[in-house]
Amino acid sequence: MIFLMDLQMMLLDVIYFILRNSLRIVLRPRTKPVEGELVLITGAGGGLGRLFAQEFTKHGAEVVLWDINSSSNEQTAKLVREMGGKAHTYTVDVTNPEDVYRNADLVRRDLGRDVTMLVNNAGVVAGARMLDCPDALMERTMKVNCHALFWTVKAFLPQMKAQNHGHIVTIASVLGLFSTACVEDYCASKFAAVGFHESMAHELLAEEVDGVKTTLVCPYIVDTGMFEGCKIREEVELLLPPLEPQYCVEQAMNAILIDQPLVCIPRVDALLYLISFCRLLPWESNVVTYRFMGSDKCMYPFIDTMKNRVSNGPSVTA
Ligand SMILES: NC(=O)c1ccc[n+]([C@@H]2O[C@H](COP(=O)([O-])OP(=O)(O)OC[C@H]3O[C@@H](n4cnc5c(N)ncnc54)[C@H](O)[C@@H]3O)[C@@H](O)[C@H]2O)c1
Ligand SMILES: *[C@@H]1O[C@H](CO)[C@@H](O)[C@H](O)[C@H]1NC(C)=O
Repeated sequence: MIFLMDLQMMLLDVIYFILRNSLRIVLRPRTKPVEGELVLITGAGGGLGRLFAQEFTKHGAEVVLWDINSSSNEQTAKLVREMGGKAHTYTVDVTNPEDVYRNADLVRRDLGRDVTMLVNNAGVVAGARMLDCPDALMERTMKVNCHALFWTVKAFLPQMKAQNHGHIVTIASVLGLFSTACVEDYCASKFAAVGFHESMAHELLAEEVDGVKTTLVCPYIVDTGMFEGCKIREEVELLLPPLEPQYCVEQAMNAILIDQPLVCIPRVDALLYLISFCRLLPWESNVVTYRFMGSDKCMYPFIDTMKNRVSNGPSVTA
């Protein structure tokens, strides 16, 4: 009897949340203020990380910037300070747990307070065909895009839980929800990032730590240079062009500020349902859809771009 009542309640809740989320597309909920929050951003020297630093500054937060590249990280700090914001830079390799824990302690000591929002944004892609790719480069992708999430969350979640206040943001990718050819390292790492993030989000809810929010951000290709050259079928690209970095970060910010658990950018919830639906279709149906869209071979020109970059110069940071 209790089971049937619970079942009925659960089904009503499911319908309620589907309706609420559909309604939210038109009626945007109120955003939360982040003044006074201490926001730590990893990969803050890069395309999206820098823009996140500036967006959070605009909203009155103080930012802690982590990057392995100190010069690009300092540049971000300079931009934040020019906006009148407060920025603190640390040169950290997020793949190294000792480095992460040591710098987390350093931040706490330097600033005398806890990080209240963590934006795990640092990310890399090998950008080479798997069979030509050095093992170390494939391993690095897993370490930056997935393992680093373990270390940073272990470093900062305990204080958030203790205060029952905080927010953990993971910048994953649509390539963490479905895959394409020639980016095996990246897809593996982003699927892993999505799995990690969702399991952690479930854990917080199961433990009823309702003050610590989570947002999983899954952007489509963004024009930051990371996937330079990547190309789908022309007619489809007109409908789905690479995202402007600023647009991507603004959409992600909107989702973060309303405590939305998951956001795909471009912000079409229909896309999410489509992805889930595709998962239920036969594998072969997906293959023919990919072929039609030109997304089966979209990474081929990207791999060529990366090859040229390697042969033209030493910098292969993305
Ligand atoms: N650009 C895209 O098309 C796209 C699409 C979807 C998701 N994303 C994700 O968005 C995030 C940001 O991407 P981006 O386009 O700004 O990339 P980017 O290459 O411009 O910036 C990444 C930053 O991370 C830093 N970084 C790399 N390894 C690090 C390490 N071990 N420790 C600390 N910092 C390290 C780099 O120095 C760089 O400043 C990544 O997680 C990426 O996977 C990007
Ligand atoms: C660090 O960033 C600077 C400035 O953005 C860039 O010129 C340089 O190539 C980067 N260094 C490495 C090792 O990626």
